[in-house]
Amino acid sequence: MKTAKLVCPVHTVDFKLLLPGGKELTPEVLDELIATNKNASYPTLPFLEHGTLFKDLRGFLKEPPYDIIFQGINRAVALTMMNKVNFIQPLMKFFDYFKKKDSYTYRHSLVVFALAVLMAQDLLEETEDWIIDVMAGTIHDFGNVSVPLKILNKTDPLTNVEKIILEHHALAGFVLLSYFLQDHGKFAAWAAKEHHERRDGSGYPLGIPLKDGMVEIIAICDIYDALLQPRPHRPTPFDNRTALEELTKMAKQGKIGWEGVQALVSYNRKDRPPFKEVNVSTEKRGKPPTDTVYGVVEEKIRCPNCHGSASETKILKDGKECVSYACRGCGKDFNEDDLISIEMEKH
Ligand SMILES: [Fe+2]
Ligand SMILES: [Fe+2]
Repeated sequence: MKTAKLVCPVHTVDFKLLLPGGKELTPEVLDELIATNKNASYPTLPFLEHGTLFKDLRGFLKEPPYDIIFQGINRAVALTMMNKVNFIQPLMKFFDYFKKKDSYTYRHSLVVFALAVLMAQDLLEETEDWIIDVMAGTIHDFGNVSVPLKILNKTDPLTNVEKIILEHHALAGFVLLSYFLQDHGKFAAWAAKEHHERRDGSGYPLGIPLKDGMVEIIAICDIYDALLQPRPHRPTPFDNRTALEELTKMAKQGKIGWEGVQALVSYNRKDRPPFKEVNVSTEKRGKPPTDTVYGVVEEKIRCPNCHGSASETKILKDGKECVSYACRGCGKDFNEDDLISIEMEKH
């Protein structure tokens, strides 16, 4: 089994350091971490009764296209199921943190949760209780607490190093949920870790084929909502049609399954045909925003020692291709890990 390495430190909302950057996430490392929290016992709280969550969620579901998706029976199904979900208290703190500091993650977490519950109920032949069980604690982007707010809220396009730090949220979420749920085998922890993996192995953090149907549902709802929302560093969102076309393209490329796309198309239609009967058109009529989709800019790499320009070479490290840099001014060699540590030190 492939193990992943943390590129940045993982900490809780109270800034308690759980693991430092550079740590290999072996089962032993995770067991050791969980052992430090084994005596904690947390009260469980009804999710939607916390703070203003229910009111906020209702408001988010009134915004297009969710007003259409969650009308009538779909709204009742999602809210009834979410109403049965309980969370341990530390997880509720994450919502408070995001509500205050990162409204994108707050809204996105709630909407993806509602959409994933709805889609799971339609797509999976599992009981409602099973869906509620696995979804409880599934807050796929909780790892964003370990990403500096300056990067999350940056209004300019991200640099490559900032993008790597942003992508760190998947593993950070895995560590945080393993720690608080006191088990690294819990579905919630795996969902956080794998929600950016794809069927064809083209995702991150490990680039392994995504096989779990439930995680894929979260992944599809995640992509859909992410495309529809403006982000600080990518202010132009996709319109609904173009977002669905983007997902169709991904299904055609074998990155995600067709069923999730069929379900989203069905939810967006007034007559709500059963998803299996939906023919997804592969015709492209929408227009993606003209600014770069992921808002990443290629920047000139500067030497951390003398700020001179650096040349790039590809080297093999532990059998993996890595980029190494050599400063043209002072001659210092450095790599991506060094650049990440320097970026993190700024925050
Ligand atoms: Fe994510
Ligand atoms: Fe997400």
